[in-house]
Amino acid sequence: MKVLITSALPYVNNVPHMGNIIGCVLSADVFARFKRSQGEEVLYVCGTDEHGTTTEAKAIEEGVTPQEICDKYYKIHKDVYDWFGISFDIFGRTSTENHTEIVHDIFKTLDKNGYIQAKEVEQTYCSKEEKYLADRFIEGTCPHCGYEHARGDQCESCGKLLDPHELKNPKCKFCGTTPILKKTEHLFLDLEKLQPELEQWVKEASAKGRWTQNALSTTEAWLKKGLEPRAITRDLKWGVPVPGKKDKVFYVWFDAPIGYISITGQHTDWKSWWKDPDVKLYQFMAKDNIPFHTILFPASLIGTKEEWTMLHHINSTEYLQHEDGKFSKSRGTGLFGDDAMKTGIPADAFRYYLLINRPEKSDATFTWKDLQDKLNGELLANLGNLVNRTLVFISKYYDNKIPDKKSELDITEDVKKVTELLEWANEKEALKAIMTISQKGNQYFQENQPWKTRTEDPEKCEIAISSLANLVKDLAILIEPFLPDTSKRIFEQLAVEPQTWESIGKPLGSHTIGKTEPLFEKLDDKKLAKIKEQLKSSKPVEVKPLQLRAGKITKVEKHPEADKLYIETVDFGDHKRTIVSGLVDHYSMDELEGKTCAWVTNLKPAKLRGIESQGMILAADDGKAVEVAVTNAKPGEYLLGDGSEEEITIDEFAVHKLEVKNGKALIDGEEIVAYTKKVLDGKLR
Ligand code: MF3
Ligand code: ZN
Repeated sequence: MKVLITSALPYVNNVPHMGNIIGCVLSADVFARFKRSQGEEVLYVCGTDEHGTTTEAKAIEEGVTPQEICDKYYKIHKDVYDWFGISFDIFGRTSTENHTEIVHDIFKTLDKNGYIQAKEVEQTYCSKEEKYLADRFIEGTCPHCGYEHARGDQCESCGKLLDPHELKNPKCKFCGTTPILKKTEHLFLDLEKLQPELEQWVKEASAKGRWTQNALSTTEAWLKKGLEPRAITRDLKWGVPVPGKKDKVFYVWFDAPIGYISITGQHTDWKSWWKDPDVKLYQFMAKDNIPFHTILFPASLIGTKEEWTMLHHINSTEYLQHEDGKFSKSRGTGLFGDDAMKTGIPADAFRYYLLINRPEKSDATFTWKDLQDKLNGELLANLGNLVNRTLVFISKYYDNKIPDKKSELDITEDVKKVTELLEWANEKEALKAIMTISQKGNQYFQENQPWKTRTEDPEKCEIAISSLANLVKDLAILIEPFLPDTSKRIFEQLAVEPQTWESIGKPLGSHTIGKTEPLFEKLDDKKLAKIKEQLKSSKPVEVKPLQLRAGKITKVEKHPEADKLYIETVDFGDHKRTIVSGLVDHYSMDELEGKTCAWVTNLKPAKLRGIESQGMILAADDGKAVEVAVTNAKPGEYLLGDGSEEEITIDEFAVHKLEVKNGKALIDGEEIVAYTKKVLDGKLR
């Protein structure tokens, strides 16, 4: 039998946090290592999921291309997982040519088999930008809390999920235009037609593979509700192009799971894993990914009417929460992979903590206190202590040589239990069972009092120490899937080549050990406080300040690519900038020329239809008219800030409140020297 293991392909647009790590890559890693130790032929596949609107959004936020975002974050992910000791056989990516090819093949076969339908739907469209807008690119007032910059998919202020049509006063995030509904044609995967076959498959597969409870119930709920045709295309540029359709790409959840196959193909002949009936497929993920792996992906494969390696066992976790709320880089809450690397706490300590708290049946919470307690009280006091006191004893009193006696400790039953638990990736329970074995070892040490019997009853002492040394060796094998580096270090101290599952219970005999050394360091209060302090200081500040300056418009041109946009040359005293503004409907070129206005000058430059805009004009908008805010200040003068402000993204800009009241410009409630004459009350943007 061959064992194919996947962990959900992480979105490429962020840094993975502890919840992501335990939810997929670490859980799959433990299983992969266990199966390798058992001597199975294993392939562990993962990689970055690089398509979708989130990548586009991040690219806009950082002012770079989607490809640049992918390259940057691919490396961040890879570095973090390497540090955590995740033993992928391949960590690939979905923005490759072979990925596109395989997605196209599967799509064309589905189409040929009659499972693809085209349907017209209405979708939000910005006529200025001339593009369809994904939900998150529409902004407006939240119907629940009144926040004015709520996104079409979710309000960042109150956290409620939204539908874009619920927003009051919806606007295109890029240019502020009110979007319209426009017809567009999308392709649908006919899940309704595939349901009977899918249902049959779910029944058989879930019985054989003992799916986790949350996977069973989610899948059953979907099937019970009845499947409907599901759109698998989007009007975007970034993604796998849809054959024969301009400006359409596949929906990221259609192409992403196919990534498992294409990434396999970046390493070896993918057919030897995905078209071989001798392969068992184990998939690891967090619960939000379930339906894509039990419904959408299997249905896509079934619809090809070809033989595929189908999901055998799904292992889906609940969530890991963080003590101070949601994991959020920008808000500075939660521990992220890159930060964990800087703490000085070894990766195995994090692995232990995450795995012993693995959210298997319910959500779990990461707290620093709990981490500290478990490292000191379990890892160090139990496992570390047993290994160290045993090996030190051998080096001190037996000249480094394990006494050649038969072990009187029999852990056969315990090992059987651990093996059974791991067989279905009940990793938390398995780790607990291993720690219980270690604890029994410590008890045995206490009861046998080798420090006394060494002189009083040498034979008894030799038996005890030999038993303990062999137990240490067995623990090194058992713990390897969980704490690979610790296992390696125990073998080094034993001066034994790393052994695998089949060597559990086999005696070491008379053997000379190597240099001994404590496995773990204590994490005391002082150290922990220092770590927390250091993490806090490396977090980005929550609100980045705005910089506003007076600038005189010296030249106005029409944008060659967009009817609503002007390109202005703006004089800031010591330098000039090019700035693009959507003012064509409100001002003639002559009216603008010569005006001294208020400008946001620390916005990251962004391309507006091909022209780089190096700032933004402040214009008042009351829903009826638009008027630019003018100022008496001299070009170059600071209306807000002093030049020390760093560049900000459009999202960081959006957290500020800009308005006019009584013709006076207010920024976050503070008046600046800029005013309007006609549009006296409204928003400034
Ligand atoms: N990128 C998705 C997420 O992070 C998971 C995709 S799993 C896939 O939630 F394999 F289907 F790609
Ligand atoms: Zn809200």
